[in-house]
Amino acid sequence: MGEYQTYQHDVLVIGSGGAGLRAAIEASSHGVSVGLVCKSMLGKAHTVMAEGGIAAALGNVDNRDNWKVHFSDTMRGGQYINNWRMAELHAKESPERVRELEAWGAAFDRTKDGRILQRNFGGHKYPRLAHVGDRTGLEMIRTLQDHGIHQGMEVYMEYTITRLLKNENRVIGAVAYTRDRGRFVIFKAKAVIMASGGLGKAYKITSNSWDCTGDGHALAYEAGAQLLDMEFVQFHPTGMVWPPSVKGILVTEGVRGEGGILLNNEGRRFMFDEIPDNYKSQTADNPEEGWRYTQGDKSARRPPELLTRDHAARCIVKEIKEGRGSPHGGVLLDISWIKEKLPNSVEHIKRKLPSMYHQFKQLADIDITQEKMEVGPTTHYVMGGIRVNADTQMSTLPGLFACGECAAGINGANRLGGNSLSDLLVLGKRAGEYAANFANENESGVINLDYIDRVTKEALKPFERAQGMATAEGPYQIQNDLQELMQDYVGIVRNEDEMRAALVGIKKLWKRINNVSVDGNREFNPGWHTALDLSNLLTVSEAITLSALERKESRGAHFREDYPEKTESFGKINIVIQKDDDGNMQVKYDPIPQMPDDLIKIIEEMK
Ligand code: FUM
Repeated sequence: MGEYQTYQHDVLVIGSGGAGLRAAIEASSHGVSVGLVCKSMLGKAHTVMAEGGIAAALGNVDNRDNWKVHFSDTMRGGQYINNWRMAELHAKESPERVRELEAWGAAFDRTKDGRILQRNFGGHKYPRLAHVGDRTGLEMIRTLQDHGIHQGMEVYMEYTITRLLKNENRVIGAVAYTRDRGRFVIFKAKAVIMASGGLGKAYKITSNSWDCTGDGHALAYEAGAQLLDMEFVQFHPTGMVWPPSVKGILVTEGVRGEGGILLNNEGRRFMFDEIPDNYKSQTADNPEEGWRYTQGDKSARRPPELLTRDHAARCIVKEIKEGRGSPHGGVLLDISWIKEKLPNSVEHIKRKLPSMYHQFKQLADIDITQEKMEVGPTTHYVMGGIRVNADTQMSTLPGLFACGECAAGINGANRLGGNSLSDLLVLGKRAGEYAANFANENESGVINLDYIDRVTKEALKPFERAQGMATAEGPYQIQNDLQELMQDYVGIVRNEDEMRAALVGIKKLWKRINNVSVDGNREFNPGWHTALDLSNLLTVSEAITLSALERKESRGAHFREDYPEKTESFGKINIVIQKDDDGNMQVKYDPIPQMPDDLIKIIEEMK
């Protein structure tokens, strides 16, 4: 104890997905020294799971599109509790960010006249998603990575942050351990940007990979930052359901954007049954019109399969619960039917959806050009996160910035598909710029080595418990029990009793992690790494559950069967989570600031 390798940067970026990379590029371009910390390897990020495209009102496919329509769609999708300033900045700035990405080398699909091609997605009024087949997130990461490594930033791969460091109330760095050797290190920084992504691993069925354990949310909360809107967890309507080993893997919304339809086991397009009132004017009530829409007919309304994700996921759950599901507990998604319409449908599907074609062929032995897919909801994204200022992305803790999925605000109660990729470009860039400014205006803080000794000692306790402690248990069972609890009790359809039961369960799990033990040594030890993730997972699960209990209404991704309607009063507030002086999690309401008249007018006009 006491001697730690120390790295020093002006700006430390935690997380190397799209948001972290974009923030790091921007900070570097302001001439400050940047360290980029990856929990996994550079290039491996949940960003790649945003497959279908980047939402930006370029207007290349439909010139009626512009930032005002995009703003209005985003606000309606988020059920009007979004941070309107973020939604405004995002809608205005995303076209420029997409063109910049193209200039940096992203190879977008093209319109016939050579512009960036855009496709339809749920909740977007016009074809808006700039895409690269169904590998858009991957192309984005590749491009940002290629561009970023020439900016001179220092990349730390396979480092996990365990605590943020503070001087009084300002964040001044972080403690980490190296995943390969198990060594603790200190990062000193004048500003820290959290870009750690999501928390899907709190649930059993998820599109997220092992590293999405809510680290950034939990680290910021532990350090005293506020979390916002944590009740809003997005269940993407279409994940794989079969075979069991691949359950939850994403099936891009791009399938439906290209004309894919959802069917129950009676062969009926059940999405036609339940078109919500506020979408009726924009949603086709017959299949032919829906098909024409996906083929670019500007006079047609969109098919109900392209309703927002929250609606689609709930409709799917209803079919399954009422016994009209597919053999393995999902529903059917069919793109092969377009052979009735397009003679070259096989080549068309393979060109538009190459990853989906290979994914189903290799993982499920299904040829999607000929057969239907089985799909069901999968935990994909969290709208809630670290509360930040819309313009600067600084959190409620000076020196701590956040962007991407771990930051809250822009999406309100539900995110539209494709908005995450544009959000991370627009707000990632802003985070990088303002963090660099903050670093230029502030000195480094003083590190408290005693605190670091305490933190590292705590992190090593699972090894000590392995030595004959009768109640010791391994980390995987606890992780599994939490995932089942959240899936069953705080999932797509919620109620008071089940969420109270979840809170009781979470309390028991907090006790159990005091007994968690691991074998072996500190080098390459995934059991130990999982043990250290558990407190983050429990923190975010508790925050989700407490916030969801507090919001006694249904809105966006938060659906309560005991309060199935939206209420006016809850439409005026955000729910805030913060640690109190005794270390307990507190929940409070904060009023949403009044939207300026010019933005209200835009929303009125678009209606
Ligand atoms: O379905 C998808 O391709 C996911 C996109 C997103 O989450 O933005």
